[in-house]
Amino acid sequence: MVRTLAVVAGASGGIGRAVCERLERDGSISEVIRLARPAFDLSDEASVARAAAALPTGELRLVVNAAGLLHDDTGGPEKSLRHLDPAFLARTFAVNTIGPALLMKHFLPRLPRQGRAVFACLSARVGSIGDNRLGGWYGYRASKAALNQLVRTAAIELARTHPEALCVALHPGTVATRLSAPFARADQALLSPDEAATHLLAVVQELGPDDSGGFFDWRGAPVPW
Ligand SMILES: NC(=O)c1ccc[n+]([C@@H]2O[C@H](COP(=O)([O-])OP(=O)(O)OC[C@H]3O[C@@H](n4cnc5c(N)ncnc54)[C@H](OP(=O)(O)O)[C@@H]3O)[C@@H](O)[C@H]2O)c1
Repeated sequence: MVRTLAVVAGASGGIGRAVCERLERDGSISEVIRLARPAFDLSDEASVARAAAALPTGELRLVVNAAGLLHDDTGGPEKSLRHLDPAFLARTFAVNTIGPALLMKHFLPRLPRQGRAVFACLSARVGSIGDNRLGGWYGYRASKAALNQLVRTAAIELARTHPEALCVALHPGTVATRLSAPFARADQALLSPDEAATHLLAVVQELGPDDSGGFFDWRGAPVPW
């Protein structure tokens, strides 16, 4: 039997942990590798490269990037232009955009050239430019929109060497985690992290090579760019 591997970046987060637990329960992958701070930091390329170099023997069939930043103790989503803070914007882009690009740089070449493999990045519907009717959340929206462009561009490059592999952006729904907690409204139905993980892995399972480079929500429906 061939040993198969899945990598989950941001494995300490609400959705990341649930994805790991579900993959381990499913048993369809031999080993789930959990990447999380402090050893793995998306704002430190050396730590991303080290994680790729340390992959155990086996075929890397799934990479899920479940790391992301909406708020921390130094800032949060901006309601207005006057709230823009260059340092917080830079941190948001470092985690939501540049970090995932580094993950693509170091992990996409590790996918097997034959057979199905999926690199899925958790994006967010608010990163959709076509769907932006409310405004606000400048940094988060822009960092996820830029992430979507990176996913699309990497998918085109990946297809040249890995015809059956996919690189996609996924919207997990509104999920009850640390990230959403300060913004959840009382009248809003939230998905639990386990529900979100179940849906996301089902979507990943359903997608085919023609879907590579796309942006899909937790029901599998395409999200406008
Ligand atoms: N929850 C939602 O409603 C929702 C909606 C749309 C999209 N999303 C997206 O879904 C993804 C997962 O979000 P979540 O709700 O599970 O949030 P979460 O519980 O806050 O988890 C975020 C994860 O990102 C990690 N992280 C942050 N900065 C990092 C860095 N520099 N290097 C490595 N890891 C870092 C965190 O690590 P630490 O534990 O070390 O902080 C944590 O594991 C994010 O990309 C988010 O944008 C979530």
